[in-house]
Amino acid sequence: MPPEIKVVENLPALSRAGADEFSRCAREALSAHERFVVALSGGSTPKAVFSLLADDQKDPAKCLPWERIHLFFGDERHVPPTDKDSNYRMADESLLSKISIPPQNVHRIRAELDANVAASQYETALRDLFPPKPGEWPRFDLIMLGMGPDGHTASLFPGTAALNENSRWVVANWVEKLKTWRITFTFPLINHAAEVLFLVAGDDKSQVLKEVLQGKPGVYPCQRVQPVNGRLLWIIDKAAARLL
Ligand code: 6PG
Repeated sequence: MPPEIKVVENLPALSRAGADEFSRCAREALSAHERFVVALSGGSTPKAVFSLLADDQKDPAKCLPWERIHLFFGDERHVPPTDKDSNYRMADESLLSKISIPPQNVHRIRAELDANVAASQYETALRDLFPPKPGEWPRFDLIMLGMGPDGHTASLFPGTAALNENSRWVVANWVEKLKTWRITFTFPLINHAAEVLFLVAGDDKSQVLKEVLQGKPGVYPCQRVQPVNGRLLWIIDKAAARLL
């Protein structure tokens, strides 16, 4: 399916639209099956989305049944959960610590461990929730993603080994330019989701976003996000959409 692009006024509007799309996907999934399985994105953009989601839970009309929701992380920095750069810490401070979700429904990447050990443990956790059928990939109901100024997404950075991973679900990925390991979902896992939601804001991303959405294919990692049987939705603010 061609990507859907929704342009909103600014970052607050993007955060509201992101939180509403999360809840819409949750209700849709929970009306069709027992659970809603979602992967949260990292970085700075989703923080306000998560805060709005936490606020929404105070409204009975918007409250979600968190006991039926499983939260995963699409990627993580190679740091302990208490570190300022931890995606888990960001999600915990803005959402998890404010909602009544069973702890066993929050699937943290144990990024304090060796990166390869953390990646294989996380794949095992995924296989527990999605017992693999031969040749089948797990189907997340929703995977949230961001885009970096270099066109990376999750921790799939330009020029890194994980870009070409076709069998693993989760890998450790060495990012030379950051001189660090990252733990990340792979493209096949991302592309088997029922919905992939990109949230992108800010003028500093407008040039790359134009090239990602309207430029030559196969240049940026983000361009390899193409759900095989799912929806691809970009919610972007006017500053990021400036050149489209
Ligand atoms: C991470 C993210 C990464 C992020 C982009 C955008 O761990 O950093 O998963 O892919 O989504 O770098 O980050 P910002 O939202 O901070 O611009």
